[in-house]
Amino acid sequence: MSPFLLTRTLPEDATEAALRADVLHGLGHTPKTLPPKWFYDAHGSELFERITELPEYYPTRAEREILLARAGEIAAASGARTLVELGSGSSEKTRHLLDALPDLHTYVPVDVSESALTQAGHTLIAERPELNVHALIADFTGGLTLPGTPGPRLVAFLGGTIGNLLPAERASFLSSVRSLLSPGDTLLLGTDLVKEPSVLVAAYDDAAGVTGEFNKNVLSVVDRELGADFDLDAFEHVALWDAGHEWIEMRLRSRAAQTVKIPALDLAVDFAEGEEMRTEISAKFRAEGVRAELAEASLDLTHWWTDTEGRFALSLSSAV
Ligand code: SAH
Ligand code: TRP
Repeated sequence: MSPFLLTRTLPEDATEAALRADVLHGLGHTPKTLPPKWFYDAHGSELFERITELPEYYPTRAEREILLARAGEIAAASGARTLVELGSGSSEKTRHLLDALPDLHTYVPVDVSESALTQAGHTLIAERPELNVHALIADFTGGLTLPGTPGPRLVAFLGGTIGNLLPAERASFLSSVRSLLSPGDTLLLGTDLVKEPSVLVAAYDDAAGVTGEFNKNVLSVVDRELGADFDLDAFEHVALWDAGHEWIEMRLRSRAAQTVKIPALDLAVDFAEGEEMRTEISAKFRAEGVRAELAEASLDLTHWWTDTEGRFALSLSSAV
């Protein structure tokens, strides 16, 4: 009997159809954009793991510190028997939570990256043969259907990934998460906090250039899946702090005037020299803002924990 189950709710061919639609829309837009969920093919997931180990990328270490310090409190407050994790990636930090939940019956990691899910799943079941792992290949921004496992349910959304959604997307995301919760269920949310811009920019523009490679990986995905001829060396990684929106914006800047062909879309796209295309935002938060956005989705913030340096926050909220 294997306690590892992998369910695909994203049809395999839907990936290409959705990518086509996103690329067509994004590159037809002024300024051009490319949507972030396409960063995470197998290579992108690997690059992200390298980002989490960079000296400049503090969010992973800060969040791990909070999880280590607060796992017992989170376990007591949630009483979780099912842990659902959205955008679980390697599930690396989640171990601290799994270790602390005495009554846990099933762990449900949810991710668009099949390679990340299978790798994390196999590692987990080798280490915890008694745990049921029901992995879901799914888009957390679409309507999720969760397996019928015992409650209470704790939904975790870590890594500050909520900051990769635009404000309007965040609002609909949070209300869809709220609809997954029954009375007594809880949401554990990781949010990176507003801080000194130089610290923020360095976290998204590291000296070793790994973040740049990650950013450009979206071009490789479009090349491979849609037959495009993006030349990665013809684009430059840009990370800047938008003080008005309080978010980091990642862009790719065309080093020269060029035309990129995308055969699967029957499209030729012109880039001017220096033209920038937005690939990702990473919003940074303040306590009042997080509380207000949760309240807007009928979620009541009950706990707020930060690391000792006050860089990152974990909050726990419950359905009202
Ligand atoms: N939670 C991990 C990984 C964060 S990186 C951590 O804290 O380190 C963001 C993760 O979310 C990646 O694994 C990526 O594949 C996944 N992801 C991004 N957009 C997604 C979407 N729309 N639906 C499901 N998973 C998504
Ligand atoms: N959720 C991560 C964050 O916003 C994702 C991320 C880290 C990221 N570095 C990146 C996304 C660089 C795009 C480019 O911190």
